[in-house]
Amino acid sequence: RVLILDFGSQVTQLIARRVRESGVYCEIWPFNQAGDDRIKAFDPRGIILSGSPASVTEAASPRAPQLVFELGIPVLGICYGQQTMCEQLGGAVEAGHHREFGRAWLDVRENCTLFDGAWALGAREQVWMSHGDRVTRLPDGFRIVATSENAPFAAIADDTRRFYGVQFHPEVVHTPHGAALLRNFTHHVCGCTGLWTMAAFRDQEIAKIRAQVGTGKVICGLSGGVDSAVAAVLIHEAIGEQLTCIFVDTGLMRTGEAEQVVSLFRGHFNIPLIHVDASEMFLGRLEGVSDPEQKRKTIGAAFVEVFDAEAEKIDGARFLAQGTLYPDVIESVSFTGGPSVTIKSHHNVGGLPDRMKLALVEPLRELFKDEVRVLGRELGLPEDFVGRHPFPGPGLGIRIPGEIRRDMLEILRKADVIYLEEIRRAGLYDAIWQAFAVLLPVRTVGVMGDGRTYDFVCALRAVTSTDGMTADYYPFDHEFLGRVSTRIVNEVRGINRVVYDITSKPPGTIEWE
Ligand code: XMP
Repeated sequence: RVLILDFGSQVTQLIARRVRESGVYCEIWPFNQAGDDRIKAFDPRGIILSGSPASVTEAASPRAPQLVFELGIPVLGICYGQQTMCEQLGGAVEAGHHREFGRAWLDVRENCTLFDGAWALGAREQVWMSHGDRVTRLPDGFRIVATSENAPFAAIADDTRRFYGVQFHPEVVHTPHGAALLRNFTHHVCGCTGLWTMAAFRDQEIAKIRAQVGTGKVICGLSGGVDSAVAAVLIHEAIGEQLTCIFVDTGLMRTGEAEQVVSLFRGHFNIPLIHVDASEMFLGRLEGVSDPEQKRKTIGAAFVEVFDAEAEKIDGARFLAQGTLYPDVIESVSFTGGPSVTIKSHHNVGGLPDRMKLALVEPLRELFKDEVRVLGRELGLPEDFVGRHPFPGPGLGIRIPGEIRRDMLEILRKADVIYLEEIRRAGLYDAIWQAFAVLLPVRTVGVMGDGRTYDFVCALRAVTSTDGMTADYYPFDHEFLGRVSTRIVNEVRGINRVVYDITSKPPGTIEWE
């Protein structure tokens, strides 16, 4: 296993992704929470130091624990990680007048294990740079293995101590051979064998769940999404009938969604499932509520109430299963100090009252979203379920801006079905992170046949993203958009106009509320 010490770079998670893709387990820890004992107990085969928005030239900026360089194990410093390594080992770093942002070209000057198989001597390699400072003097024992125009120490190596540093970011896709570099580090430098596979993870987690739960009963809330479904199937495999799932139908689900969850769990997997149709309660509580945050809070509170009441009926339940993922768990390094602004209060199955006194079972805590999908396949979940686009907890409730009316929900469901049907038919579903229809509470005039119409506007949204944090709108061709628009206006009574949302995130968000 490999340890990644995070100094607050935006792309630290990508380092972990690449390392895991190389079949090596790794964890990300904030640099200031890596005490010597904790590091020794983790017993890593190698350590990677991440980038950072800070500057090594400022006295208060973060440093790696000195122990990192004393354990006798390989260290790879990336960007800021390289700079602090050099500074801590006796080299020098200069605040930059030679900033490099974006694409740069690397000249490979000497052979190095990091380049094995991917980068040949004399090659010019595209890399991604994002730095203001740069190393100006190497610590003893290091040699230069590659340079770039503005980074004379773009890649450095101390083969004896097995310390390596790169000024560029091998973890991002804009460094095409970056994944190979990280694989060389984990396999050839650290000597990891790459045995961390999803099959191994599955067995390991099943053993962990059994050890944690014993003969206790576990309840699991299903949302209809991939994460809770994968968690439930995995736990069921570990403890069978000790697991009961609860599916709360909020009345804000899409067409066929509730039926799909019920038939998949009861029928396909034979997992005990309580299906609560609470739509009347949810829609009743939402009457007259039009503020987005108020809507989210109302839905969240109603959910907890219903879930709580159902859970209480399960005699002796001691554990609550959740589909928490690694990105929710990683503690982030913040340099701003202040509280971050709440853009949207997210609703998940979490946030249950403390008095429930249930211990959490979170078997996906160490996984990224795409790894959950791999695990889902491994567990036999159908492909169309595993590959589903994310669907938010508040469901269609946040896809009708303003007050939610039942007739509008019906209209939205119909438009959404057509839109997704066309996306699938065009073979675009998997290229898109998330696509959905939004029903605007705005009516406009149209003409159909000989008559005047005065109906709602439907907005279509489709984005690409890797983690939902940033997103780009999907560039459909006009012919596709025209086809969807025609079908929606012709087939869905209540909509007479369709628009396409071409806002990226930021400044927009993916959902409209
Ligand atoms: P935004 O709209 O904030 O969404 O750009 C980012 C991603 O999060 C999803 N989302 C939610 N997921 N509970 C969830 O589980 C929520 O309350 C929630 N709100 C937004 C959204 O669909 C997108 O994938």
